[in-house]
Amino acid sequence: MNITNVAVIGAGTMGNGIAHVFAQSGFKVNLIDVNPAQLDKARQTILKNLDRQIAKGALTEDQKQTTLSNISSVSDIATGVASVGLVVEAATENTELKRKIFQLIDEAAPPHAILATNTSSISITKIAAATRRPPKVIGMHFMNPVPVMKLVEIINGYATEREVTEQVVELSKKLGKTPCVVNDYPGFIANRILMPMINEAIYSLYEQVAGVEEIDTVMKLGMAHPMGPLQLADFIGLDVCYSILNVLHEGFGNPKYAPCPLLTNMVTAGYLGVKSGEGFYRYTAGSKELVVSSRFR
Ligand SMILES: NC(=O)c1ccc[n+]([C@@H]2O[C@H](COP(=O)([O-])OP(=O)(O)OC[C@H]3O[C@@H](n4cnc5c(N)ncnc54)[C@H](O)[C@@H]3O)[C@@H](O)[C@H]2O)c1
Repeated sequence: MNITNVAVIGAGTMGNGIAHVFAQSGFKVNLIDVNPAQLDKARQTILKNLDRQIAKGALTEDQKQTTLSNISSVSDIATGVASVGLVVEAATENTELKRKIFQLIDEAAPPHAILATNTSSISITKIAAATRRPPKVIGMHFMNPVPVMKLVEIINGYATEREVTEQVVELSKKLGKTPCVVNDYPGFIANRILMPMINEAIYSLYEQVAGVEEIDTVMKLGMAHPMGPLQLADFIGLDVCYSILNVLHEGFGNPKYAPCPLLTNMVTAGYLGVKSGEGFYRYTAGSKELVVSSRFR
């Protein structure tokens, strides 16, 4: 089956990037959000990112116009998925919300359509069970920022059929991405390995083994990571890290995944990293300087 039309549900951080890369690769995209302001904001972000690609010489003005004309904004899920071959859901990370959305998509999308979710941590098998077509449900985990990051972690649910995985692998390659197929266990691969590393970095700070800058510098210069684990945690959002660690902890029943008490405190107090203005570092609008939070100096 040749897929040419795609629906992306959720026009937030990830949804606008996913719509961008599909549209740039020639797919017709319905970008769907319940919040019209998010749809407007997503269009502005896509425009800005396309202009950035032009400035780097990676895109022509014609390609930019074609990409933009490939994207339609839609506010109703049933309308947006009615005639597509693939749906990629990138709505808010909430199990009940995603199960409701998948029920709706299942009723409105063509029977042959593949239903993918961009969830970072929710079980694909659980989401698939809300539909009448679990063999056609799969995880398609893009990384942030989507137009830049090469990886797509493809997650097979318990019932995902092989042809669906093969099609999603081929689609990811058409987007210029590198797909990696994994199975559906808590955290998949990306977060199962990344989150314990971040948690261990937070434990090292909590136990005063080293300071924020020292921990991040060891990992940047010693392991060639582009960003230290504490800076990365701020970027992802400390609330997001906390909730994924809880998914790992509950999913495996192993205390090694329990969030560090310092992380729990920071999240409870609303120190969430870049999005709240302070986490391990303090962020000032318009400044790119990395300043360690005064709490850790
Ligand atoms: N942000 C990241 O770095 C990142 C990375 C990988 C995966 N993810 C996953 O991607 C998904 C989206 O995350 P995000 O960071 O883009 O979130 P976000 O909060 O930026 O965007 C979510 C969007 O979903 C919309 N939405 C909520 N309910 C909806 C509904 N019923 N129908 C249509 N739209 C609805 C919201 O209006 C919002 O625009 C989550 O599952 C998250 O775990 C996020």
